[in-house]
Amino acid sequence: MVDTNAKIITVTSMKGGVGKTEVSLNVAAAVKQQTGKRVVVVDFDIPYGGVAQAMSFSKERSLTDWMDIDPDVLLTPRQAESLVIQDEKTGIDFIPAIANTMDAKRFDGAAAKRILEQLLVFYDYVIVDSGVDLSSCTKTALVSSDKIILVTSMQNGSVYNNHQYKEDLIAHGVQPTNILLFINQVPKKDAGSQAERIEELYWSNGSSVTTASYAYFDPEISVCRNKRQFMYLTHKNSNFSQAIGDVVKKLGILSIEDEWFQEKTGFFTQLKKVFVR
Ligand SMILES: Nc1ncnc2c1ncn2[C@@H]1O[C@H](COP(=O)(O)OP(=O)(O)O)[C@@H](O)[C@H]1O
Ligand SMILES: [Mg+2]
Repeated sequence: MVDTNAKIITVTSMKGGVGKTEVSLNVAAAVKQQTGKRVVVVDFDIPYGGVAQAMSFSKERSLTDWMDIDPDVLLTPRQAESLVIQDEKTGIDFIPAIANTMDAKRFDGAAAKRILEQLLVFYDYVIVDSGVDLSSCTKTALVSSDKIILVTSMQNGSVYNNHQYKEDLIAHGVQPTNILLFINQVPKKDAGSQAERIEELYWSNGSSVTTASYAYFDPEISVCRNKRQFMYLTHKNSNFSQAIGDVVKKLGILSIEDEWFQEKTGFFTQLKKVFVR
């Protein structure tokens, strides 16, 4: 991979419906808000993905456009800009998955690597929403990632599949310390003890993986999604947003410069509060 300070964070799981896309979008929103830097969300869940649907984007721009770029040519910033969807509300850029299933066959590990390398030049944070498979493009994203967020729900199938998946990732060369577990959709009743049970399972069996945080099952998340809103931005004090905040903190990907940005914006927010009073 190219030598930059940019970071790749892949959100993954071996089960659909556990909240990968929701976590990807909200982690992106949190990183953008906390750093003010250039953030792109790229959908590697081939062929259909969930990002375009979640954001109500058409696929006029997608990974298909990126696949045919000459591997020896570095895009200009203007060209790169024309190949992403820029969301004005959040300031985040997006690349939906493949435009049609025919192109999906062409999207292999080499294409994934080329695209990530281009993106690392233009962005500070590349958030990959990955597929439920160990295809060569998913594998490329995983081994290129600085950090991996492994999302599991509380269902037995999800807990055990993802546990096995964690071992497979490590067998593929991923460092256990780069994997953070996000336990999602935990029933609010006894949430702490239920999450702890899973945390213990992932810590004590096979290679130990740290739990970043857990989030309650909260119907408001789907309500928000249907309105194309980001929980992290509209419901900052919700349990889910706090869980997202915890993950971002535990990823350890923010630079000293980012921490300053946070302190500075934090300071202005405080100042504003004083004046408003
Ligand atoms: N903690 C949660 N509580 C309630 N609903 C959730 C939660 N996390 C995600 N969801 C919702 O569950 C659905 C599936 O999530 P999604 O992110 O699309 O899963 P995946 O990408 O893993 O298939 C979406 O409607 C999403 O808004
Ligand atoms: Mg998804």
